[in-house]
Amino acid sequence: MSERSERTRESFRELWASLLPIGRERSTGGYRRFAWTPADLACRAWFREQAERRGLRTEVDRNGNLWAWWGEPSADGPRAVVTGSHLDSVPDGGAYDGPLGIVSAFAAIDDLRARGMQPARPLAIVAFADEEGARFGVACAGSRLMTGALDPARTRELRDIDGVTLAEAMAAAGHDPTLLGRDPERLRLIDTFVELHIEQGRGLVDLDAPVGVATGIWPHGRWRLDFQGAADHAGTTRLPDRRDPMLPFARAVLAARDIAAGAEALATIGRVYVVPGAANGVPSAVHAWLDARAAEEDAVIRVVEKLYAGALRAAEGHGVGVAIERESWTAGVDFGPGLRKRLAQLVAPAGRTAAPALPTGAGHDAGVLAAEVPAAMLFVRNPTGVSHSPAEHAEEADCLRGVDALATVLAELAG
Ligand code: GLV
Ligand code: MN
Ligand code: MN
Repeated sequence: MSERSERTRESFRELWASLLPIGRERSTGGYRRFAWTPADLACRAWFREQAERRGLRTEVDRNGNLWAWWGEPSADGPRAVVTGSHLDSVPDGGAYDGPLGIVSAFAAIDDLRARGMQPARPLAIVAFADEEGARFGVACAGSRLMTGALDPARTRELRDIDGVTLAEAMAAAGHDPTLLGRDPERLRLIDTFVELHIEQGRGLVDLDAPVGVATGIWPHGRWRLDFQGAADHAGTTRLPDRRDPMLPFARAVLAARDIAAGAEALATIGRVYVVPGAANGVPSAVHAWLDARAAEEDAVIRVVEKLYAGALRAAEGHGVGVAIERESWTAGVDFGPGLRKRLAQLVAPAGRTAAPALPTGAGHDAGVLAAEVPAAMLFVRNPTGVSHSPAEHAEEADCLRGVDALATVLAELAG
């Protein structure tokens, strides 16, 4: 191993080890880094500290996204090359989803400096706020607000499970929520955005490659299903007299699987909230969240429509009401072929002309930014394919290949 590679490995290890304990739940080993909570703020403090150690200027944009700058951007200077990802997590998420992109970005900058690079364009690392939407329900909130894909007034009113609004949570964390909204000045600063991310499937394992390039992101969305019945006593209410919302909900869960299987789609109900949640009571309401994805937008819509129609029929039979509301929608993304092919060639493994290119069903800030600026993604091999789980993992050697690939790409794009 060369001296430079050894230094990059040390820098990656130090970054990784210092972030690892933040927001980890001891009982599961998973992460609970929800937007604007103390764990998220600790991650943001870690980001600032790492930037400051490297002499990178940090700032928070209007939408709460955190930036670190190597070189100063200006409206009339060369546009910036930006890399980064997110630090927040799903409930009991893995260590890599998001943080790998940020840690690799800092390590890549260390590597570029060790190569003696003087970038011709400003370089920035960004940590997008609230990518997972685990707390307020809308994924990629920071990047969507920045591009204007989310209405700021509606976003300020999103509530977490305790009824706290996003505006309140942001304000308590010291960020002014009245600033939220499309940020054309910042978008104009960006020449290219490249996000490195752990792969969330086994595509690269099957292709025997440590690093790949994303072709696109499947269309996907989240819908809330509200089943409204009537609370009653579990020990005294005759079965025919009940209006139990759990029953049509249970049918909807099973139907989601069957309908998705028949439509070459994915449908998941991974979050349920039962009111009032008494073990000896018929519930009054069940609130459930449906996540649906497919390669084609039509297939996603068909799944949701069919599922809702079935839920309505099942609910009627039990005197239960059911309503559906779309909480977020992400159209399919095709990353520009020119940029992604250039990246695939740049990061080609020895003996190959290009790194493999593959689509993903997972959402990313790079997909949101792709509507506004040239954007691309690098994936790092995930040996099990497991993600959104404490078991998510990547081998250190592959992570270092990822850092090397990112550094090569940044050097090329930033000159
Ligand atoms: C983000 O990880 C998503 O795909 O929901
Ligand atoms: Mn994720
Ligand atoms: Mn992610």
